[in-house]
Amino acid sequence: MSDIRVKIDGVAMAAPDKILTNKDLERIVDTSDEWIRTRTGMVERRISDEHTAASDIVLKACEKLFKKSSIRTRDIDLIIVATVTPDHPFPSTACILQTKLGIPHCPAFDISAGCTGFIYAITIAKQFIENGSATNALVIGVELLTKITNWTDRNTCVLFGDGAGAAIVTQANKGEISEIIDTYISSDGRYGDLLIMRGGGSRNPTSKETVEQNMHTLYMEGNKIFKIAVKSMGDAAVRILERNGFTGDDVDWLIPHQANLRIIDATAKRIHLLPQKVIINIEKYGNTSSASIPLAFAEAIEDGRVRRGDLIVLDAFGAGLTWGSVLLRY
Ligand code: ACO
Repeated sequence: MSDIRVKIDGVAMAAPDKILTNKDLERIVDTSDEWIRTRTGMVERRISDEHTAASDIVLKACEKLFKKSSIRTRDIDLIIVATVTPDHPFPSTACILQTKLGIPHCPAFDISAGCTGFIYAITIAKQFIENGSATNALVIGVELLTKITNWTDRNTCVLFGDGAGAAIVTQANKGEISEIIDTYISSDGRYGDLLIMRGGGSRNPTSKETVEQNMHTLYMEGNKIFKIAVKSMGDAAVRILERNGFTGDDVDWLIPHQANLRIIDATAKRIHLLPQKVIINIEKYGNTSSASIPLAFAEAIEDGRVRRGDLIVLDAFGAGLTWGSVLLRY
């Protein structure tokens, strides 16, 4: 066990200005505002323009992040970007960001864990810091899912939006209340085909055929995933609380992945948490995958709901299939 304790120093978010409403979607596919609201809780989402890539939005989030922090970009010695919509398949968006922010030589890499990406990235950063390999990590969740959306598929195109969240994960000082207490991550690859982008990799390299067959867009069998998501997110929240001796009564905030209001409600119920203790912004941003937790976290800090010392559970589920949770005192 390491003596080094790890905390989240700050979180900031950014999203494109352009809003795509449920009403706008009614003009694109056979859907309705009523269906989308009642099945998902979504009302609008943000959509980036053709010139914007993942690192551009992250940069905006990072500008806010470093303005609020005493840690400077030159102090960062680890960059982890969780995304399934990087600027390019390679080089990593983390390396692109390193250059944009002028961060000195350090490990920088992307990870792919779908909507659980931010939880995976926090877990990795915590371990780098605990074992002395890094001191100040920049941890990002960013997704421009509207760039890989099949706009003819009503099952998926109404669900996703664009955004980015950025956090500085660093050493906690002695006696400080802020701390990442525990993290839990897991996966089950057997269900990988239920949420997949089939084209563009080594299995189906880009060709005229893969483009014609829409294989470069996201495919999801949402109703098959739904039950697994409810169970996995509930289990992840229960597990992290139980193994650290807490119950739902101790929790100030649940900040869940924003995929579906019904999944969020079920997760809160599993840990017997009052609805007013759940941070929800799905109505404004839709499902922004790995960006959704830091985006909701940052908004709740900005508007004063989340305060230093609050006990918080982060909880997510996504492509892989993957799931996980983080227990922390902010
Ligand atoms: N508008 C109107 N009707 C629609 C739409 C739409 N946009 N989409 C589907 N329907 C129809 C279907 O065709 C179906 O019609 P039918 O009964 O005539 O066949 C009916 O609505 C019900 O469809 P379901 O897919 O069963 O609807 P469900 O209640 O399951 O909601 C949803 C779908 C919102 C996708 C839900 O299943 C869900 O949230 N799943 C989990 C998604 C998730 O957590 N993914 C992981 C994270 S995402 C990531 O990692 C990128």
